[in-house]
Amino acid sequence: MPYLLILGARSDIARAVSHRFARKGLNLCLAARRYEEADRDAKDLEIRYRIRVMTREFDALDFEGHESWYAGLPEKPLGVLCAVGFLGNQKKGETNLTEAKKIMETNYLGCVSILNVIANDFEERKAGFIIGISSVAGDRGRQSNYFYGSSKAAFTAYLSGLRNRLCRVNVRVITVKPGFVRTGMTEDLELPAMLTSSPEEVARDILSAFEKGKDVIYTKWYWKYIMAVIKIIPEKIFKKLNL
Ligand SMILES: NC(=O)c1ccc[n+]([C@@H]2O[C@H](COP(=O)([O-])OP(=O)(O)OC[C@H]3O[C@@H](n4cnc5c(N)ncnc54)[C@H](OP(=O)(O)O)[C@@H]3O)[C@@H](O)[C@H]2O)c1
Repeated sequence: MPYLLILGARSDIARAVSHRFARKGLNLCLAARRYEEADRDAKDLEIRYRIRVMTREFDALDFEGHESWYAGLPEKPLGVLCAVGFLGNQKKGETNLTEAKKIMETNYLGCVSILNVIANDFEERKAGFIIGISSVAGDRGRQSNYFYGSSKAAFTAYLSGLRNRLCRVNVRVITVKPGFVRTGMTEDLELPAMLTSSPEEVARDILSAFEKGKDVIYTKWYWKYIMAVIKIIPEKIFKKLNL
């Protein structure tokens, strides 16, 4: 059964994406830490869209287990969406390395560890696609979330390098940079309504980028321009801003 593998499948954005791809008739494998809940999603998706959906328990921080985890899939996926992410607590991380490390390991090392295994398989098969959800937070470090932001910056650079390597064997790598999105990750934050998307809007943009052959997208689209402005603010001024 050809299918799309979704890592971090219980993420609100990932769940919205799974509906978009399921509507197109693509089978799915939902990989999540809370796989009992993923099981419920799977049943719903199967009934709603008449597709096949399997579930797998997956922990991005089980670095040593990733190779055997992937080898244990019954057949290899057509493509993968990586939606794993952890905002964490910036303030806590400043004095507590365990928190800072968890943010960095979840958003960077964990994603890289599993995507390395998948990328090698796709390279050998000369087929596949990888959609990685990074963030606008990786475009410039800010005092409010620089452990998260720097991990996303590293993830964006990783995806760029991977795209550069794999385009030779016809494997696509898409980098998704959302701005603010109303999800479990941001439920305790006050987000500016005008600049905030729903998971469904992000999912629509991801499917559209996939269908149009885009390499890098900002979602909503205007974040590209917001970040272009943020990136050109001279450091002398930027360091004094309360961002
Ligand atoms: N929301 C935003 O404003 C925003 C903006 C830019 C980028 N993003 C990115 O979008 C992606 C999806 O996030 P979201 O907004 O949909 O938030 P979310 O609902 O909190 O999703 C994050 C997902 O990551 C999973 N996860 C965390 N650590 C994991 C681990 N060790 N192993 C496996 N899964 C793990 C969580 O699993 P559990 O369900 O088990 O907790 C959760 O399902 C993330 O990469 C996030 O960084 C979000």
